[in-house]
Amino acid sequence: MLPPNLLPTTLLATLPFWLPLTTAYTPLSESFLRAIPSPGDAFSIETTTTTTNTSLLAPLLIPRVPGTPGQQAAQAHLFNFFTTNLPAWNLTWQNSTSTTPATGSRQIPFANLIARRDPPWTKAGETNFLTLVAHYDSKLTPEGFIGATDSAAPCAILMWTAQVVDKYLTQMYDEMSALGEGGELAMDMGLQILFLDGEEAFVQWTDTDSLYGSRSLANQWSLSANPLPQQKFYKYRNPLSQISLFVLLDLLGEKGSKVPSYMPTTHWAYVALATVESRLRQLNLLETSSSSSSSSSSSQPTKNAPEDENDPSFLPDLNSTTASAKRAGISDDHLPFIHRGVETLHLIPKPFPNVWHTMEDDGAHLDLATVRDWARVMVGFVGEWLDLMEVWTEPEAEGEGTTTA
Ligand SMILES: *[C@@H]1O[C@H](CO)[C@@H](O)[C@H](O)[C@H]1NC(C)=O
Ligand SMILES: *[C@@H]1O[C@H](CO)[C@@H](O)[C@H](O)[C@H]1NC(C)=O
Ligand SMILES: *[C@@H]1O[C@H](CO)[C@@H](O)[C@H](O)[C@H]1NC(C)=O
Ligand SMILES: *[C@@H]1O[C@H](CO)[C@@H](O)[C@H](O)[C@H]1NC(C)=O
Ligand SMILES: [Zn+2]
Repeated sequence: MLPPNLLPTTLLATLPFWLPLTTAYTPLSESFLRAIPSPGDAFSIETTTTTTNTSLLAPLLIPRVPGTPGQQAAQAHLFNFFTTNLPAWNLTWQNSTSTTPATGSRQIPFANLIARRDPPWTKAGETNFLTLVAHYDSKLTPEGFIGATDSAAPCAILMWTAQVVDKYLTQMYDEMSALGEGGELAMDMGLQILFLDGEEAFVQWTDTDSLYGSRSLANQWSLSANPLPQQKFYKYRNPLSQISLFVLLDLLGEKGSKVPSYMPTTHWAYVALATVESRLRQLNLLETSSSSSSSSSSSQPTKNAPEDENDPSFLPDLNSTTASAKRAGISDDHLPFIHRGVETLHLIPKPFPNVWHTMEDDGAHLDLATVRDWARVMVGFVGEWLDLMEVWTEPEAEGEGTTTA
């Protein structure tokens, strides 16, 4: 869905009368939420030697510094995941090079992977994309730094999300194609995942020593005019305007971390995500809800939970109580996109994890229950955004009556 408050006013002025702006973002039914599968071992930190059920996360728990073999291994893992499991997705690399303050005159390669699933009936430049984003590079120092929350776990969460929703998305696209539907704003929705490179500074965070990949991609997209469509007006002038919402995940996977609402213009999306979370909690479908859930040793006092120290919610800032104070924001991959008018939702905890930019940000310090729960919440949010209730069949009434945990 593309709610009106996401549309730039310039675009609103050109919208033809038939666009269904009244179509609602459709909440998933209780039975659909219950049908979100368990991630199981998808986020195991152990690399398995078998060919099936290989962890999505473990291969990323290595140093992934641009210009090193670890970067290439991470690229291969991301790319092969899609070609093996999700062949309908269109994969594109957006590459650039840059010098860095740590590497002298050598040109360091940066490669963003763009994974897209769009309706089969749309032509280039016609799909609006819910865009999920995480960076896959890791920081040069300290030497051997892994960056499990930063952002190996967010990348794995997005891979799993893609896999789960693709099944329903495929069914929806097939049914709509068979009916000859499509061509309207609310129907031409797709899912796009950006695995960005070069987020980290090589020496010290500055405007030029950071965000290498996102700066290059946002710049290239701002210069890439879409082909003029047959209707003789642009729905989307360039790939940036095809982004209905840019959702950036970063530093997720520590137990107890809380994500505030940073952006007044996308607070409604924050609330939608928080609502999915709280519904899943009420249905006992999140592992982090039970106080007895297993956790790593890094359970810190939740100093970031002002109201209730025992509140397990990831997204407690429903009233956006301190949004204006936080609006100065946190430098991250969304900035080059914000500067070009893209609406963003920044899912980064405040304060940062205790392990941030230390050697302790590794697999052993992740709280895997937290990682799995974030993945479940993301699937619910994406399912609602993409209107997957369209293809959901409610189970027989007899099954619904018995609600056992
Ligand atoms: C694990 O492997 C089994 C057997 O190959 C398969 O049925 C199942 O879907 C796999 N699970 C995941 C999460 O890939
Ligand atoms: C994949 O996306 C690229 C970039 O938008 C486009 O040029 C290419 O035609 C697409 N490939 C397919 C098979 O859709
Ligand atoms: C872009 O980078 C990727 C990943 O390193 C690589 O596989 C691909 O060949 C590069 N593409 C171009 C055109 O250089
Ligand atoms: C949010 O605002 C509503 C209405 O003003 C109020 O009832 C509620 O207690 C607030 N919630 C929090 C967590 O502050
Ligand atoms: Zn970092």
